[in-house]
Amino acid sequence: QPAIVGLRDEELLMMEDCLQRLHLELQHSAVTHDSEMIVDEESFAVLYQGAVEATISVSREQAATENAMLRLEARKRMFSAEYGEQRRARLSLPSWTQRQKIIDTIASNRVVVLTGETGCGKTTQVPQYLLEEAEALGFGAEVHIIVTQPRRIAAISVAERVAWERGEPLGKSVGYVIRLEDMPPRRHGSILYCTTGILLRRLQKADGLAGVSHVIVDEVHERELDTDFLLVVVRELLNVHPYLHVVIMSATLDASIFTRYFGGCPHVNIPGMIHPVQVYYLEDLPQLMGQFFPPATRQRKLGCSDEEDIDFELAAAVISWIAQYFAKGAGAILCFLPGWDMIAMLRDRLSKTPASKGMAIMALHSQLSAGEQRGAFTHPPGGMRKVVLATNIAETSVTIDDVVYVVDCGKIKHRQFDPSRNMTTMRVQWTSQASARQRQGRAGRVQAGFCFRLYTRDVHARMLEHQIPEMQRVPLEELCLQIKAIAAPNVSSQVAEAASPGSNMSQLKGTMAVNTGMNDIAMFLSKALQPPKGTSVFAAVKVLRQLGAIDQYENLTPLGRTLAKLAVHPRFGKMLIYGTLLGCLDPLLTIAAAACFKDPFVVPISKRDEADKMRENFAINSAYASDHLVLVSAFEQWKKANLAGQGHSFCERHFLAPMTMKLIAGMRYQFEKTITEARVFDTWVTSDLEARTHVARCILTAGLYPNIAKSELCRESKGMKNATQHAYRWRLGFCVQNGRVFIHPTSVVNEKHLDPNKHYYLIYQEKVQTSQIYLRGCTLLPPLALVLLGWNVSISSDSGAAISGDWMLLEVEGWLKFHIDRRAGLLLLELRQAF
Ligand code: CDP
Ligand code: MG
Repeated sequence: QPAIVGLRDEELLMMEDCLQRLHLELQHSAVTHDSEMIVDEESFAVLYQGAVEATISVSREQAATENAMLRLEARKRMFSAEYGEQRRARLSLPSWTQRQKIIDTIASNRVVVLTGETGCGKTTQVPQYLLEEAEALGFGAEVHIIVTQPRRIAAISVAERVAWERGEPLGKSVGYVIRLEDMPPRRHGSILYCTTGILLRRLQKADGLAGVSHVIVDEVHERELDTDFLLVVVRELLNVHPYLHVVIMSATLDASIFTRYFGGCPHVNIPGMIHPVQVYYLEDLPQLMGQFFPPATRQRKLGCSDEEDIDFELAAAVISWIAQYFAKGAGAILCFLPGWDMIAMLRDRLSKTPASKGMAIMALHSQLSAGEQRGAFTHPPGGMRKVVLATNIAETSVTIDDVVYVVDCGKIKHRQFDPSRNMTTMRVQWTSQASARQRQGRAGRVQAGFCFRLYTRDVHARMLEHQIPEMQRVPLEELCLQIKAIAAPNVSSQVAEAASPGSNMSQLKGTMAVNTGMNDIAMFLSKALQPPKGTSVFAAVKVLRQLGAIDQYENLTPLGRTLAKLAVHPRFGKMLIYGTLLGCLDPLLTIAAAACFKDPFVVPISKRDEADKMRENFAINSAYASDHLVLVSAFEQWKKANLAGQGHSFCERHFLAPMTMKLIAGMRYQFEKTITEARVFDTWVTSDLEARTHVARCILTAGLYPNIAKSELCRESKGMKNATQHAYRWRLGFCVQNGRVFIHPTSVVNEKHLDPNKHYYLIYQEKVQTSQIYLRGCTLLPPLALVLLGWNVSISSDSGAAISGDWMLLEVEGWLKFHIDRRAGLLLLELRQAF
């Protein structure tokens, strides 16, 4: 006799899912009526058990064995002397006092926001508490926790730490996955630390969360692009995965923005063990430091320190003063600077001071390899003072244990993209009050500490309260493409497949589709914590449409699907596809891989000329100078040297970052694999190296269009100028559609080497405004490449404007004009159609 069993919406969905996945044969079939699902109780029991098993993806027997094993291991850890050191370290953390509260709140809520000062034990302890609790209760195998980290190195170092605390090697119950490197843990009863991007990519697959019990989104206060995006996705996924628990972790105390975002979810705060930190501002320093205070700084008015400048002399003086004035061995000095180049500069200057003999100066920034970074965490030999020069990576994401003094320049390097001008401005700016507070806190970890702010109280009062989230600062093409890719398998296709018209089910799922709103990029982004501007989204969608990644209804095209899988900016993805098509994939693999990381050329300030020369040596001898092809030949030569075991010395000689070169090699391999797997086309390679490089150069257009500039003669004032006398000279310069621009000084494209009587066209990767507008990543191109491979180029071939019967005038986008052989021109136009 069938009985009606009341099911919650999400249960209903889950069961459907189970039926499909487990192919369960039901004794009595479940029937869907108009408005209710009718299931007899026996079938319900089978289904329900199936559902539970499906979420943990193991059979009941297997789970029982694993659970018993985990329980034994947990006991061992708890009671054996072997783990004494680990236990002591863990029990001393502030998070320990809140252990039960954290476990209980997470167990009884779908979403919990957890806050606590950096170092209190959020990242390393909370996942362990959850796993250990389950282990002790005998269902450890049902727990699989994913913890996301914004940075690669943080993911590794934290996983290593937790594995140590559990007395295991990595890859058992604790592991990590980052791009190009993984050491994943077992699937059941485990904690996985991964970068946010990795989880987002996993979510592109429909069963991306199979077996996952908890998702912990860490470091949300950084408001990094991927993290903000993940929050939107996670909020939607709560509807689809009824047994998923989500924890949001932040190092800032004010969590209201996050709790509000998750419908007023509970908030647990871990009270800090931060010791008091005495804060001094710039105006306090002359008196404190006395003769140590640099006279140059004194002469400049303290109140109007320039926003873009770093006073290296002052920073060096403060550091040496601390090193001498405060007792030796009593704690490390941590100095915050905006970028690695400034770290190098301060390091140079510091090493010239007499105090530097007693210092172990370490750098800490994301350009360093994991090995090089370790220096910052070691303890120097007795009597030496550790000085760590760091970017804001040391603000929250990594913790240096023995810091007592913080020297804060108060600046940050800030990128801001302006969609209306297609331009990125990059400036050193004042940081926010929130991050100043965070930096200060780093001094009070071991004992009462000191924070020296190299700016005035007045400047501090005028700082922004919080940083502007990355989502409002960067171009959004890659993000928008990912939104489409995530939307497709997870929600829309399931909905489309399973919904039968008219039934309750389809209504239910229909609502979900509407609720998740993943079909509409703008609508999706409007659900973000702090949504990006409409113009930004619009600009990104336009680029995607012109690239051919989405169609006019914003549906992913087959090209778009492949581009999303490539995990590179779609512009570069498209180049890879053209490269495959036209038989010159290899150089483009390097170019696209390099675009994923920072510039591999590391330019020490003191050796700028030497470094520039080295870079120019890599330039291929051709009429068309190219920064992109410089990367290609640098990479090729490095590869050879590396095979001969001389990669490192090669990098040193040529001012390349060895870590970045290795990352590029790994990325190249991954792209190649994805392209082969996607079976875009059969890879066909021309054997003519020169032709291959030239075609690759032209293909840059397919991705970077419409970022083009053309040369023009500019009149420049020369030398002295007064009211009566003007001296001018003519110089070759470049212009983009609405104005004059400059080639970035690091580029191998050098206006001085070009013939002023000729026309040049170039394609650039980025237009950056610092003191002037600079084009970065430039490649000179034959104009035909623009006509053939530019997107949606409006070409007019007005025959009236033709000079003679054999020539025609092609006008691209109304501002680039070429004369071209008529037959070639017509052929070109025809070829364009084919693309
Ligand atoms: O996430 P949160 O900033 O709250 O702290 P955590 O990363 O869990 O770190 C807790 C403690 O573990 C720190 O205070 C460090 O003493 C230690 N730790 C470590 O020694 N090495 C790491 N890689 C990470 C943490
Ligand atoms: Mg943390």
